[in-house]
Amino acid sequence: MAYETILTETHGRVRLLRLHRPDALNALSVQLITDLNAALDEAEAAQDIACIVLTGSDKAFAAGADVKEMQGKSYLDAYLGDFVASWERITQMRKPVVAAVAGFALGGGCELAMMCDFILAADTARFGQPEIKLGIMPGAGGSQRLTRLVGKSKAMEMCLTGRMMDAAEAERAGLVSRVIPAAELVAEAIRVAQLIAGMSLPAVMMTKECVNQAYETSLSEGIRFERRLFYATFATPDQKEGMQAFIEKRPPAFGNR
Ligand code: HXC
Repeated sequence: MAYETILTETHGRVRLLRLHRPDALNALSVQLITDLNAALDEAEAAQDIACIVLTGSDKAFAAGADVKEMQGKSYLDAYLGDFVASWERITQMRKPVVAAVAGFALGGGCELAMMCDFILAADTARFGQPEIKLGIMPGAGGSQRLTRLVGKSKAMEMCLTGRMMDAAEAERAGLVSRVIPAAELVAEAIRVAQLIAGMSLPAVMMTKECVNQAYETSLSEGIRFERRLFYATFATPDQKEGMQAFIEKRPPAFGNR
């Protein structure tokens, strides 16, 4: 399906979603979030898709929520409309979503990247929560996810000053998993996503659920949760195939069941 503000490509079992508002540095308008959510619904439902890559342009992953759209909102518009709630669709994805970030990932753009399962950054990437400079504050999880990812000191400094972090600092701080030369970013993200898509889909989904559980619960509960799902993998044909293939020294042929 075609969208106004999202470009889509399919590479084998990987769906690439590209934020596309070139005149506004991919500012996250209502239309863009609506399109993104529809594209995510479509990828989640597609039987032949196992992993999603979310990217932007060379200049911007996304420069934040659309300031021009938000500027006139009253408190009641914001509160009753609860417009940020629709941003959470991506956090409910059961298939993995890899963010491939080049250029600016600011405000809501940084928050959207952090909602993905991990971030691959181009060496041009710049992350920040500049909302304070607009007289507001992060509103789509920035104060929470950034703090969990990089620690209180750096998150507090970034949120209070609006300072941007470059890709090298983001990698040192644990915000991104790896830094990649900008020209290779999308190809490398697709390669990594294809690697994931080649694993057993139920094992991938259970693994994602477990890692995310680490943020939601105590260590002992998380370990119990992990053990339950670990045992559950033994109910799948893919466990039999994966271990048999290892023993026979051949690549596994997963059936994703
Ligand atoms: C609307 C935006 C935008 C944004 C850029 N543009 N960011 N429009 N909302 N967030 C538009 C500009 O108005 C301009 O349009 C065009 O994109 C190019 O931007 P420039 O500023 O000319 O580019 P440049 O000089 O290279 O500067 C890049 C930039 C700057 C440093 C990223 O654009 C910037 O500071 N943008 C705002 C970043 C920000 O404050 N983000 C947080 C938003 S609040 P025209 O028409 O003039 O060419 C937020 C809260 C989220 O995200 C909370 C949950 C909802």
